[in-house]
Amino acid sequence: MKAVCWQGTKKVEVENVPDPKILNPRDAIVKITSTAICGSDLHLYDGFNPTMKPGDILGHEFMGEIVELGSGVKSGNARNNGQPLAVGDRVVVPFTISCGSCFFCNRNLWSLCDNSNPNAWMAEAALGHSPSGLFGYSHLTGGYAGGQAQYARVPFADVGLFKVPSELTDEQVLFLTDIFPTGYMGAENCDIQPGDTVAIWGCGPVGQFAIRSAFLLGAERVIAIDLVPERLQMAKEGGAEVLNIEEVEVGEALKEMTGGMGPDSVMDAVGMEAHGFGLEGFYDKVKQAARLETDRPNVLRQAILACRKGGTVSVPGVYTGFVDKIPMGAFMNKGLTMKTGQTHIHRYLRPLTERIQKGEIDPSFLITHKLPIDQAPHAYEIFKHKQDNCIKVVLKPNEAA
Ligand SMILES: NC(=O)c1ccc[n+]([C@@H]2O[C@H](COP(=O)([O-])OP(=O)(O)OC[C@H]3O[C@@H](n4cnc5c(N)ncnc54)[C@H](O)[C@@H]3O)[C@@H](O)[C@H]2O)c1
Ligand SMILES: [Zn+2]
Ligand SMILES: [Zn+2]
Repeated sequence: MKAVCWQGTKKVEVENVPDPKILNPRDAIVKITSTAICGSDLHLYDGFNPTMKPGDILGHEFMGEIVELGSGVKSGNARNNGQPLAVGDRVVVPFTISCGSCFFCNRNLWSLCDNSNPNAWMAEAALGHSPSGLFGYSHLTGGYAGGQAQYARVPFADVGLFKVPSELTDEQVLFLTDIFPTGYMGAENCDIQPGDTVAIWGCGPVGQFAIRSAFLLGAERVIAIDLVPERLQMAKEGGAEVLNIEEVEVGEALKEMTGGMGPDSVMDAVGMEAHGFGLEGFYDKVKQAARLETDRPNVLRQAILACRKGGTVSVPGVYTGFVDKIPMGAFMNKGLTMKTGQTHIHRYLRPLTERIQKGEIDPSFLITHKLPIDQAPHAYEIFKHKQDNCIKVVLKPNEAA
C-alpha cells in the first residue's frame, strides 16, 4: 500500500510499504477513505520529536471502512449504542488508543490509558508517567503506524472505532478523530459561564473549532488571536472578534476590550512552536537551538498575563518538554487554574456527532484542500508555510491521483 513516511526533518515521502495485518485479537484493519494533516504533525515534520525513525508512517486523523476484524472484537460499546462492529462498517478512528478497561479509561480519561503504549518506559523517563498510545506519533507514544496511508491497523478496535451515521459525509465527520473534540475540550476546560469572554490564541484548525465550541458552550464573546489574515477571517466568520499580533500589543488590546478586567478564560491553541517577537522571541529561538529549552512558550506567557484574576488557562496546544520564563508569579497571585491534556476523544464522539446531526455545526467548513496521497509532501509544505491560503488538508488515499 501507499503511505506517507517521515524520513527526517522537513522530509516526508510517499512510499510503497507492506499492508498492515491483524496482530492481536482485538485489532481491526481499516481501509482509509479520508485522512488529514494536523498541526501536531508539523511538530514531527519540524524535527522536534527525537523518537521518530525514518520510515515511520505519519497520520492520526483518519476514517474509512472496516475490511478485517480480529477474532476478539466481539462486544459493542455505549458509543456505538452497544452494537458490535462488522466488516463493511464506516468508522472514524480516535487518535488516542485506549484499552477501555484500565483505571484511566474507566474514569473517562481516554488519552491517559495505561495499557496502550508498549513504549511506556520511554514516556516515563521523559514525563514521569506515560500517556496513551497515539497513532503515527513517534516511538514515545507507541510507534504505531499512522493513518496517512491506504490501510491501518487499529488496536482495541472494539473500544475506539466509532460507527458514523450514513447521512453524514466524510468531510463532516473526519475531524471527530481529533481537532473538533480538541477544540471542544479546550473550550470545556475554559469553564465558560454565561456572559463570559474567552480569548483564544491560534486560529489554526484547533483554534477554529475552539471558537465555535466556546459559543456552543455559552460564551458571549470570543476574541481570536493570530497573524495569518485568512485564518483571522475564518475566525471572524465563526463569530469571533479578532486581533492580529503583528498589528497590536495583544495584552493591552485585551485589557481595553474587556474594560481592564482581562478575558474570563484564555486558551493556548498554538503550543510549542509559537511565533515570538523581539527580544523574547529571539531568546526562545536561541535557547531552543541550544537545547536549553525544548518548547517556545510565547503564547502561554501572554495568556497567563492576560487572563483576568481567578480565571482559567486552557492549553490544548501541544508541549513536549521544558519551557522557560513562565510567569508563575502572575499565575499564583492571580489565582488562576490551568487545564490541559491530549484530548479524551472517546468521550466526545457521540455528543459531537449529535451536534453535527442537529446542524449546530458542520465541520467541513474548515477544509481548504483535498488532495491525492501522492501530493502529501506538497501538502505538508503548504500547510506548514500557510501558502495557497491552506488551513486544512484532507488526503484521499484510495482515490486515483
Ligand atoms: N491536545 C491535543 O490533543 C491536540 C490535538 C490536536 C492538535 N493539538 C495542538 O494544537 C495546536 C494547534 O494545532 P493546529 O492544527 O490548529 O495547528 P496550526 O499550526 O495550523 O495552527 C497554529 C496557529 O497558531 C498561530 N500562531 C503562531 N504563533 C502565534 C502567536 N504567537 N500568537 C497567536 N497565534 C500564533 C499560527 O499562525 C497558526 O495559525 C498544535 O500545538 C497542535 O499540536 C493538540
Ligand atoms: Zn491532530
Ligand atoms: Zn485504558
